[in-house]
Amino acid sequence: MRVIAIDGPAGSGKSTVAKAVAARLGLEYLDTGAMYRSVAYAVLRAGGDPADAEFTANVARSIELKVGLDTVTVNGADATLEIRGPEVNRCVSLVAANPAVRVEMVSRQREWAERRGGGVLEGRDIGTVVFPNAELKVYLTADPAERARRRAKEVTDLDYETVAADLARRDTLDSTRDVDPLAEADDAVLVDTTGLSIDEVVEVIEGLLA
Ligand code: DC
Repeated sequence: MRVIAIDGPAGSGKSTVAKAVAARLGLEYLDTGAMYRSVAYAVLRAGGDPADAEFTANVARSIELKVGLDTVTVNGADATLEIRGPEVNRCVSLVAANPAVRVEMVSRQREWAERRGGGVLEGRDIGTVVFPNAELKVYLTADPAERARRRAKEVTDLDYETVAADLARRDTLDSTRDVDPLAEADDAVLVDTTGLSIDEVVEVIEGLLA
């Protein structure tokens, strides 16, 4: 099984880079953050409280989830835009810190890759928890101001300060939670993408595989 793990904080360039690497290698790509976002969205849709651990865990276990290259379907309905909205942004770190949610999502991620004989997976814990034996583990970073600038460009309805504050809040929650926090695997290759173009980052990763 050929697994490439791409981890790192929000705005480090993971999605764009992981998609490009997958296309070059002829592998499929999985955005695992979209899975946690989908659970958060389904909890809100059901009128639940993301802080209710039991309710949220049940949603995670029963959710019907299709995470495609460009679209996400949650319980049969397109949720591609909704999972990136402010309501989900506000509570997704809390949902992702729920141990039962993580157990369920990690198991689905492993199954996804096993069924395909591998893939490029991006997230926070792919190299540390989901696939500790991945062929290549890349940990992408970029300085916080640059990450916030990139995110602010993606979301047109929020200003830079709001995006930067939200990013800093999520960084702290994601890296200080008890279960599988955002962390660099010991054997991951650190790539600082500050000032690098997507193509340059993809080239660096291709060089690591050669
Ligand atoms: O990459 P993203 O911003 O779409 O991730 C959404 C949230 O999910 C973020 O708070 C971190 C969390 N996440 C996680 O805990 N583990 C993963 N493998 C991927 C994302």
